[in-house]
Amino acid sequence: MRKILGFFIVVAVVILAVYHALIYYDNNFRYGRMRETPAVRPYEEPLLVKEAGLVPINGGEAIFRATAGTDIQSPFDLTQPAAIDRGKAVYLIYCAQCHGHNYDGKGTVGQSFAPLPTDLRSAKVQDSPAGVLFKNVSYGIPDGRQPPLHATITVDDRWRVVAYVKSLGTRE
Ligand code: HEC
Repeated sequence: MRKILGFFIVVAVVILAVYHALIYYDNNFRYGRMRETPAVRPYEEPLLVKEAGLVPINGGEAIFRATAGTDIQSPFDLTQPAAIDRGKAVYLIYCAQCHGHNYDGKGTVGQSFAPLPTDLRSAKVQDSPAGVLFKNVSYGIPDGRQPPLHATITVDDRWRVVAYVKSLGTRE
């Protein structure tokens, strides 16, 4: 009987020792614990304020498509230096590969086109109303080869790239 009791006491001591060793290890753990990191609770956060115009509630692109290019006006002044600057960045990302660094259609991709992509400093482009260029860049040219970029470039950036193209002026 004593032997059995002694055995259980030893077992209990061993279990307690292991338990406390684990607790000690846990309390002195060096790394961050999942439960200590701040939880993201999306439904308790204030809603993000959306950029104006992000969600089209007044027709968006559909209105541009239905309106003649000559009747579409830019929402901002196309001669603003900030718009032209941003337009240049847009040009280098989305247009230069075809229209080229000299705007003559001899970009790395454009040079293989026959005929070449339209010279953006030609009188034809420079004399076109901004809204017409905006529509051509947005939806392509019917039966033409300009890619429609409305799904790739935001409305404002499309106006800015038009501002940049216009700022180039007609080639001498
Ligand atoms: C895949 C090559 C390619 C890319 C990218 C491209 N274009 Fe073009 N673009 C062309 C071609 C080709 C034409 C000539 C259209 C034709 O012959 O139908 C053209 C024509 C044009 C015209 C003349 C439209 C007119 O009224 O005749 C403008 C303006 C223009 N592109 C601007 C742009 C701008 C701005 C970008 C960038 C946002 C751009 N393009 C991106 C190939 C491209």
